[in-house]
Amino acid sequence: MSVLEGKVAIVTGSASGIGRASAQAFAAAGAKVMVADIDGAGGEATAQLIRDSGGDATHVTVDVTDEVSVAAMVQATLDRYGRLDAAHNNAGISPVSGNTVDCPRSTWDAILAVNLTGVWQCMKFEIPAMLRGGGGAIVNTSSGVGLIAIAAMPPYVASKHGVIGITKVAALDYATQGIRVNAICPGTVLTPMVEEKAKQGFYNVDAMAAMAPMKRLGSTAEIAAAAVWLCSDASSFVTGVALPVDGGTVVGR
Ligand code: NAI
Repeated sequence: MSVLEGKVAIVTGSASGIGRASAQAFAAAGAKVMVADIDGAGGEATAQLIRDSGGDATHVTVDVTDEVSVAAMVQATLDRYGRLDAAHNNAGISPVSGNTVDCPRSTWDAILAVNLTGVWQCMKFEIPAMLRGGGGAIVNTSSGVGLIAIAAMPPYVASKHGVIGITKVAALDYATQGIRVNAICPGTVLTPMVEEKAKQGFYNVDAMAAMAPMKRLGSTAEIAAAAVWLCSDASSFVTGVALPVDGGTVVGR
């Protein structure tokens, strides 16, 4: 069933990984998709993959840390498709940061700017556009480490806890105006972000899979399916939640 038929969605961070799978899933569910990413070539490749599968997608280059760029992303969506019904604010970075004392201020600022300020800034421009169309639904990508902590990732863990905080506030702010706001907390999924960390020896993905309750990692499609559900009318009474999509990893900790 095309649960997002006739809807228009923005997916940030959709040149790669979870965002690409989400943009494809939104399109497969019937939405017209604005593929938004700082990586222009990767974003265009995602949009082309969707069009090749019979979907409707357009790419816009955006830097979610830049207010002018985010405003232009939303305006480009309205110009192209005339409305905005759904958004998956998913762009994120996870460079190695060191522990609480070692983390350089520049690394702290860079991670917070993309992962937390970027999410807030996207909502700041998406919500008014949704209100003009009568409402909408937003899903923000947090992480399992938005709910629990692991060592030696202070800005990443703080940013992902922060995403849940701003998600809850926005959910309350717009609960009476037809806008639902939720977060998803993916477990480990093999994407370029995680592959890079594994190459650096920071992650052992085989060990992580072996320790997981389901004895496997998730797929990008499994994360994307949750984002689609949270933006569909099937979740019409769900707002302000931080949904683990992790095969039971957080609950088992
Ligand atoms: P990825 O590195 O494959 O994709 C991230 C995308 O964000 C890239 O296309 C990148 O160009 C884009 N991006 C980075 N900075 C940007 C900016 N300033 N403006 C616009 N776009 C920007 O990573 P992945 O794994 O797909 O991550 C997606 C989201 O999921 C991130 O928020 C990440 O923190 C989160 N996450 C990932 C998990 C995993 O195991 N892969 C687990 C939990 C959360």
